[in-house]
Amino acid sequence: MDNPYWPYPVRIDQVVTETEDEKLKTFKLVFLHPEDEEKFTYLPGQFAELSVPGKGEVPIGIASSPTEKGYLTFTVNEVGLVTAHLHMMKEGYVMGVRGPMGNWYPWEEMEGKNVVIVGGGFAFTTLRSSIVYMLHPENRARFGDITVVYGARSPGMLLYKDELAAWEQRDDIHMHITVDATQDPDWKYNVGFVPAVVKQKITSAEDAYALVCGPPVMIKFTQPVLLELGFPPERIILSLEMRMKCGIGMCGRCNIGDKYVCKDGPVFTLAQLSQLPPEY
Ligand SMILES: Cc1cc2nc3c(=O)[nH]c(=O)nc-3n(C[C@H](O)[C@H](O)[C@H](O)COP(=O)(O)OP(=O)(O)OC[C@H]3O[C@@H](n4cnc5c(N)ncnc54)[C@H](O)[C@@H]3O)c2cc1C
Ligand code: FES
Repeated sequence: MDNPYWPYPVRIDQVVTETEDEKLKTFKLVFLHPEDEEKFTYLPGQFAELSVPGKGEVPIGIASSPTEKGYLTFTVNEVGLVTAHLHMMKEGYVMGVRGPMGNWYPWEEMEGKNVVIVGGGFAFTTLRSSIVYMLHPENRARFGDITVVYGARSPGMLLYKDELAAWEQRDDIHMHITVDATQDPDWKYNVGFVPAVVKQKITSAEDAYALVCGPPVMIKFTQPVLLELGFPPERIILSLEMRMKCGIGMCGRCNIGDKYVCKDGPVFTLAQLSQLPPEY
């Protein structure tokens, strides 16, 4: 078995600045050794440790979908030491990826069901992976209706703008994009916080799962709306972001009660979380 602490070497193939504040960049990474890509099999919801030579590692959700072959993508918010150095790295630089880690959204359980995606801010990354995965021709028939509510502070803070526009044009996915506020007279989508848009646009919880990923305040106010709509806690799926170190359940850095977020999560149902101490 390969050493789980050993990162795969990857080359930065492309860097895209996503947001107007330039704090969010998407890195497209290509494995230096093609055989490593074969070993890196993942499903949407999982994360990896990105390692920046000489600086350290950070856990980041995988933004690409396993249906996108030949590369991985990660969208990284510049907040501190490692992410700042990552933001300075350019196309052609070599770095490391360790993983895939953690669990994934319950894809088998969701087969034949409707899926409601609720995302806010930069936490939309693994939800982007999920949407691309479900819309792939090989997978689309496995799921019922797909509805997306995605919000950001302002139009310039939305991720993946070209893809959002393309999904808007499709008739097999219902998009509800929203911003907290905007002065832009050409803005043609919603204005309002994500929980309010969920309340307004999602009309049924029948046969549906909700995948929710976003800042804590969005999650806090979205939960009661989903429960009121009739989603049972077992079908409200959340993804947690805790401080982590090893990423493989060895160091004890990320535990909540008897669960390790890196190994037992980061994906949990609301029913599971209600059994744990409120430390997240
Ligand atoms: C499973 C998982 C998936 C994640 N996915 C993404 C992603 O897709 N994109 C992304 O940009 N970030 C993601 N994060 C958060 C990311 O790991 C942290 O922002 C990163 O580790 C910060 O490292 P740093 O060295 O730059 O910051 P540091 O110098 O270590 O810290 C800078 C500031 O960020 C805070 N911080 C550090 N780590 C975290 C954390 N895990 N959660 C909340 N606050 C933190 C610190 O308290 C401090 O205030 C994810 C975290 C986890 C656990
Ligand atoms: S990060 Fe080490 S146990 Fe989870």
